[in-house]
Amino acid sequence: MKVSSHTVAGMVGDWQEGPGPAHQRLSDRLRLLVLDGRLSLGAAMPSERDLANTLGTSRTTVGTAYRTLVDHGYLATRSRARATVRLPDDTPAERRNDAGSATIDLSLAAPPAPVEILHAAFATALEQLPRHFERHGYDRYGTTELREAVAHWYRGRGLPTRPDHIMITNGAQHALAVLARMILSPRDRIVIDHPTYPHAIKTFLEVRARLLPVALTPSGWDTAQLREAARAAHLAYLIPDFHNPTGMSMAAGVRRDLRLPCLTVVDETMSDLALDGASPEPFAVHMPTAISIGSVSKSIWGGLRIGWIRATPSLLERVEQARPATDLGTPVVEQLATAVLLNERRTRRHKTLHQLREQREALRRALTEHLPHVHAPQPAGGMTLWATFPEPISSRLAAIAPDHGVAIAAGPRFGVGGAFERNIRLPYTLPADQLTQAIRRLAQAEQALTQGATGTHTPAPVA
Ligand SMILES: Cc1ncc(COP(=O)(O)O)c(C=O)c1O
Repeated sequence: MKVSSHTVAGMVGDWQEGPGPAHQRLSDRLRLLVLDGRLSLGAAMPSERDLANTLGTSRTTVGTAYRTLVDHGYLATRSRARATVRLPDDTPAERRNDAGSATIDLSLAAPPAPVEILHAAFATALEQLPRHFERHGYDRYGTTELREAVAHWYRGRGLPTRPDHIMITNGAQHALAVLARMILSPRDRIVIDHPTYPHAIKTFLEVRARLLPVALTPSGWDTAQLREAARAAHLAYLIPDFHNPTGMSMAAGVRRDLRLPCLTVVDETMSDLALDGASPEPFAVHMPTAISIGSVSKSIWGGLRIGWIRATPSLLERVEQARPATDLGTPVVEQLATAVLLNERRTRRHKTLHQLREQREALRRALTEHLPHVHAPQPAGGMTLWATFPEPISSRLAAIAPDHGVAIAAGPRFGVGGAFERNIRLPYTLPADQLTQAIRRLAQAEQALTQGATGTHTPAPVA
């Protein structure tokens, strides 16, 4: 895959700022982009001349930066061909860390399975399974049991919903990918929250849509900016409930006033995770034309791989026609078990939410003790804090942190154009003692960075 000079320029952001010679700043930025996966392995880089022109710098600067990357094993060159992205041979992803113990993974925001209730739900699902044996098992809409359970879940939250408004998918990410393939054409513009969920960014870039990022302000969504951007857009993708990564929720007043002049997809994957107070009303209560996607990955378990789309029956019919290009349906046993779990909502939720509250508190205590200069507002729900450092060190910190026994997701993975270099996302889905240990290790990594150390770790996957 060729990467254009404009794409690279967008990713390196404000590389001109900072100490040291320009070629070194540029090679440093490019190295971090390789390490954190935004420049993918095998990608063909722009020519030195193109990149120099686009960046407004000399060809010598770009040439020297490229040579440094070749010398350190991050670029491969062949005569008359573009330089391609690679990794040095000695960059084992699972290198032993200086902390001498297993790496604590803070890159994933996903809870472990609720073992006992999951077991019981699967036992019930197996009892129910024989009634599906007479049919072929390829059902692109999902089982009646689960569609009814999801519709019931919406009704319980104040949004009248019938089972024919629901299509079951293999997780919310699958729902988004199927919708993006069906709705978007290359060069269509799509409004996104900025920051937003990284796999949504990937999904939209994959269908070659153009992103219109609208910044979240410290108080949340800016109605005027969203409306303005939406005027030129084909689609808006918003995460109004316990937003990933910031944890913020869209205020009721904003939901009521926000009438976007383009198709709107709302991702309500986190909506069952209200930690202080009630869950927000479903977005479609205020914007009935919105397409909602949801999931049990965060409220129950990601391993179920169950999500859904809530839309009009006619839109779902179009999705049903398009779906075979990606898959032919969702496994039946998982659907039956999920229906059991959704119908027993109260028992299951109480324990999960209690644990998340305690872990959020432990994470905040550890930050106050070990990283007091980091600002991390407390969200009213979800499973992540969006932490801000005083300096733009996020990618470098993510590259060095595994040397100190902790893996993190760097801020720029949640945005476009190299934004969020001062941020990292910190999930509170691990037990309290591990969170405390992880923050202690992160503080050590930050100190090593300020003493001039550099890291070479590739990014862990985010969720
Ligand atoms: C906002 C958001 N959307 C979608 C997903 C993907 O969910 P699923 O596991 O259901 O595919 C996630 C998972 O982290 C998420 O945070």
